[in-house]
Amino acid sequence: MPDFEKQSYWHERFASERAFEWLTPSSTVMDILTPYLAGLNASIRILHLGSGTSDLHNHLRERGFLNVTNVDYEPLALERGRQLEQDRFGDVQTQYLLADATRLNLSDKYQLVIDKGTADAIACGEEDALLSMARSVRRFLDESGFWVSLSYSSQRFDEEIQSIFSVEVISKIPTPKHKPTDPDIFHHCYLLRPRG
Ligand SMILES: C[S@@+](CC[C@H](N)C(=O)[O-])C[C@H]1O[C@@H](n2cnc3c(N)ncnc32)[C@H](O)[C@@H]1O
Repeated sequence: MPDFEKQSYWHERFASERAFEWLTPSSTVMDILTPYLAGLNASIRILHLGSGTSDLHNHLRERGFLNVTNVDYEPLALERGRQLEQDRFGDVQTQYLLADATRLNLSDKYQLVIDKGTADAIACGEEDALLSMARSVRRFLDESGFWVSLSYSSQRFDEEIQSIFSVEVISKIPTPKHKPTDPDIFHHCYLLRPRG
């Protein structure tokens, strides 16, 4: 299996990759998010962790959410993200921040944190890496905010993380089948709310 947790893997990959969506298209994520975004002010602070070469930030911007900070620990990802935004809108208005999602040190708190496949990549690393990510997210998430995480795993968040966040699966997204007899395989969209 590739070293999904290593920055060198992503650096090599993004040297040639300009746009790629892990797990599910951003439009599907936005459909799932719609009821949760309803009623939220467009000026809310959104943290997009492990933005990679995804266009999720463009979809958020299309919905009027401009206060988006795209975080990745690989500089090429941020360059690709900026280019995708520039190509789509003719300018760059969302923020790009080089940071390790397991060791965030931010000056703001956020109302919404989103990761698509990033918790999965981080979980490939050291045993407590995902717990470190969860603690980081908790630290910079508003009390009333929430974390949306897209994962291939049906058991992404263990008991320790569940002691920090209430964890709910809000959507199971069927993956394409190559043959009708292929088994049903789902990706999971989690909603995590900070416990008091
Ligand atoms: C599976 S890809 C997902 C990319 C994108 N979210 C998508 O849906 O296409 C994981 C991304 O997380 C980034 N990443 C992995 N570990 C990270 C960490 N500890 N801190 C910040 N970014 C990380 C990688 O550079 C990569 O861009």
